[in-house]
Amino acid sequence: MHQERFDDIRARFAEDIASAASESDVLDIKGRYTGKKRGILQELMASLKEVAPEERPAFGQAVNALKSELEQGVDEALARVRDAKRAPAGLDVTLPGLRPDLGHLHPITRVRREIEQIFISMGYAVATGPEVEDAYHNFEALNTPADHPSRDIQDTFYITPDVLLRTQTSPVQIRTMEARRPPIKIIAPGRVFRRDDDVSHSPMFFQVEGLVVDRGITMAHLKGTLTHFYGALFHRDVEVRFRPSFFPFTEPSAETDLTCVICGGSGCAVCKRTGWLEIGGCGMVDPAVFGFVGIDPEAYTGFAFGLGIDRIAMLKYGIDHIRHLYDNDVRFLEQF
Ligand code: DAH
Repeated sequence: MHQERFDDIRARFAEDIASAASESDVLDIKGRYTGKKRGILQELMASLKEVAPEERPAFGQAVNALKSELEQGVDEALARVRDAKRAPAGLDVTLPGLRPDLGHLHPITRVRREIEQIFISMGYAVATGPEVEDAYHNFEALNTPADHPSRDIQDTFYITPDVLLRTQTSPVQIRTMEARRPPIKIIAPGRVFRRDDDVSHSPMFFQVEGLVVDRGITMAHLKGTLTHFYGALFHRDVEVRFRPSFFPFTEPSAETDLTCVICGGSGCAVCKRTGWLEIGGCGMVDPAVFGFVGIDPEAYTGFAFGLGIDRIAMLKYGIDHIRHLYDNDVRFLEQF
């Protein structure tokens, strides 16, 4: 009769302890069965008085034996849940792993590096200059006198009347020619700043400047260089067209148009049905600029060009608003 009660407790304990998943589960069960206050074994012991006097010693011994049995079960269960915490027993090594988020290059960085590689393959060096520039290098030595409209505070972020955020990468032309004698063959990629903000303008954007100075450099070299460059960049045959223009530091100057890389020249929304894309400025280095850096314009000629990396990235990746490039929205960035 008593045996049944013992077996019943044993079976319930075995079930409870098997389903314990954590240390606190186990300690809970331990309290319920062997706890000094109202534990199941405590209550069993309390029923001793209902047991026939001659059976009491055996009953007492059986309770004690059950107690050490349950305590052993608790110890084993504790060892099990502590082990599980260290190396989850339910680990299924055949499940696909968690893929960590990997960073990757920004579209502007990718395009900049591609541009650099193309020019490096043509023997150019990559030059840099300060983003906080002085008015002499950004304007004066580029033959842009104090009364020139681009020097207006409407266009330029001034820090002091003489110090500003460079509005173009062209000052790197001056810094390069101050530091080195021809032959010079450089590009200068970098950030530039202007007080401008709309669908295709951001107050900070990226340009690449190019400068070649040597004996006998002509506008034909300029056009051939740009044609090769754009073909390599967009992976297709392109034509480059020069439209007469004006820049203070080049003479003659030209606006560069490129066969529309979207429609191939037949006319589309991106090229406004013209078949051409306006893609940058260029020209022959103005002799006045050579004057500022002490290069003899009778002995040397040079060409220069400037283009926007943002515009190229937008064309290459079909991005319709320059802001996407600078919002750093991962849903956008992840697509590259
Ligand atoms: N610096 C000019 C701009 O920001 C672009 C440019 C035009 C650069 C003609 C040149 C050049 O080197 O020859 O609008």
